[in-house]
Amino acid sequence: MTVSKPDLYRDLADQLRALLAGEPDRIANAANMAALIYHGLPDLNWAGFYFRQDQELVLGPFQGKPACVRIPLGDGVCGTAASRGVTVLVPDVHNFPGHIACDPTSRSELVVPMIEHGEVSGVLDLDSPLVGRFDEADRAGCERLVALFVDHHRQHSG
Ligand code: SME
Repeated sequence: MTVSKPDLYRDLADQLRALLAGEPDRIANAANMAALIYHGLPDLNWAGFYFRQDQELVLGPFQGKPACVRIPLGDGVCGTAASRGVTVLVPDVHNFPGHIACDPTSRSELVVPMIEHGEVSGVLDLDSPLVGRFDEADRAGCERLVALFVDHHRQHSG
């Protein structure tokens, strides 16, 4: 029996809440969130974070193969999501001009920005070797997970 995507994301959100509970450290929490997503969602080859430093995104905790460390805002799928402040869903990266191929086997990508205090503080990036892996249910589910992460750290930053 296959679990529906909304049910899967509800379960992941419950697990994320439990992992974050009582822990203020962003890096530790981002590392556990990347591991939760990478192992909890099927057909991914990379899941992780880039954090914003001025006009660049810098690699954060992730699961998957080693990746590009610095991405200028506006470049690639991650930099596009960060500069626009909106989620970018790319069904086939071969059709996305400027896509940064950290791993040539990646074929689709979903990037959700983290917005804190009205500014993009980073992105959550998911890659898949399958064309068309991500849909609107993934967009909604991942936006919910990112919102949990951001809200948690807002509460712990006083
Ligand atoms: N493909 C991304 C770069 C990051 S890696 O996929 C981990 C992009 O175009 O922004």
